Amino acid sequence: MSEPGKKRGISSISIHEGEDPLYIIPPIYQSAIFKHPFGEQIRGRELKYSREDNPTVHLLEKKVNALEKGEDCLAFGSGMAAISTIFLSTVSKGDEIVTSKEIYGASLVLLRSLEKFGIRVKCVLNGDLVKSITRDTKIAFIETITNPTLGVPNLPEIVKTCRENGAISVVDNTFATPVNFRPLEWGADYVVESATKYLGGHNDVIGGVLSGKKERMADFWEWRRNLGGSLDPLAAFLIIRGLKTLKLRVECQNKGAQEVAEFLEGHTKVKRVFYPGLKSSQFNKLASRLMPGFGGVVSFEVENGEKALRLLTSLSFIKTAPSLGGAETLITHPVSSSHKSINPAERKELGIEEGLLRLSIGLEEIDDILEDLDKALKSL
Ligand SMILES: Cc1ncc(COP(=O)(O)O)c(C=O)c1O
Repeated sequence: MSEPGKKRGISSISIHEGEDPLYIIPPIYQSAIFKHPFGEQIRGRELKYSREDNPTVHLLEKKVNALEKGEDCLAFGSGMAAISTIFLSTVSKGDEIVTSKEIYGASLVLLRSLEKFGIRVKCVLNGDLVKSITRDTKIAFIETITNPTLGVPNLPEIVKTCRENGAISVVDNTFATPVNFRPLEWGADYVVESATKYLGGHNDVIGGVLSGKKERMADFWEWRRNLGGSLDPLAAFLIIRGLKTLKLRVECQNKGAQEVAEFLEGHTKVKRVFYPGLKSSQFNKLASRLMPGFGGVVSFEVENGEKALRLLTSLSFIKTAPSLGGAETLITHPVSSSHKSINPAERKELGIEEGLLRLSIGLEEIDDILEDLDKALKSL
């Protein structure tokens, strides 16, 4: 498929990149082992054991790499396996990591837990990232859109500051996806994504990807093998299948989220709405410069925690569940779920109030989503 010089669109890449011309649908190499020393090679390494490499997993890696415009890509058993591998393989005692307090909770816990190995971790607010990166920084880790208050850090400035200071920039692009943003094109060194979310897109598989410069990929590969965070071939097949509709789904979710955000902004029972696509958002100008769409997650605040919990039980088909990026519209109450273990003072600093709710817009008709929300809000 990859004819040199030919630029194809996101859906064409998702559907065709890396495919064997003999097949329409790729086979699943549901095998732990391969015959060697006469077996196939992947990236110049002999194929022998699926914890190291697997042809179905490698097909996914080729597709994601082409979507993210990377030099090489590795797939993992989860987004957290990708994130932990990049950190464990890169930092040593005495190194400094700079990150935002506004990143995904498990990533923050992981980075803070590296302090016990003598690694210094600076956790700041999104707005303080640029000034926190210095000559002492080994890696800066940021997210393109942060959770649950949908902040957009100034990625071009952060990447530039990393370059000037010799630091490696790693961007978690889970919320934006390569449809809305490609961090490598803006100069980031590495991009990671939880494939569990939009890439898989159906809430039926856990996976992660890491793409970027070739330079450190052999090392990441070695750590993936030794930590054991490899992706299962059946899971890779499901993500490959999900990718075929990635662009269609994300564009639909961009549009749906924008409509929901505007609807909620005008609702008398809603105190505040967080979505970078809203003109009233402090991130609208920056986000509009970087992205054609702002993703499918919208957060909003009702009067208090009691009403937020009541709203969850008043919805009809919108279900309370973690995760995002699937076909089903889902809702969460961060204070009693994802951010429960964070102390109230820090939650306040992050703008996470008791009445905050996070929606992941699915693929249902938008009028149905609005009706479900409106009924539940009116019952408060
Ligand atoms: C932004 C972000 N990064 C990483 C992860 C971790 O991904 P996984 O659950 O696939 O390990 C998540 C999961 O919610 C996430 O939201």
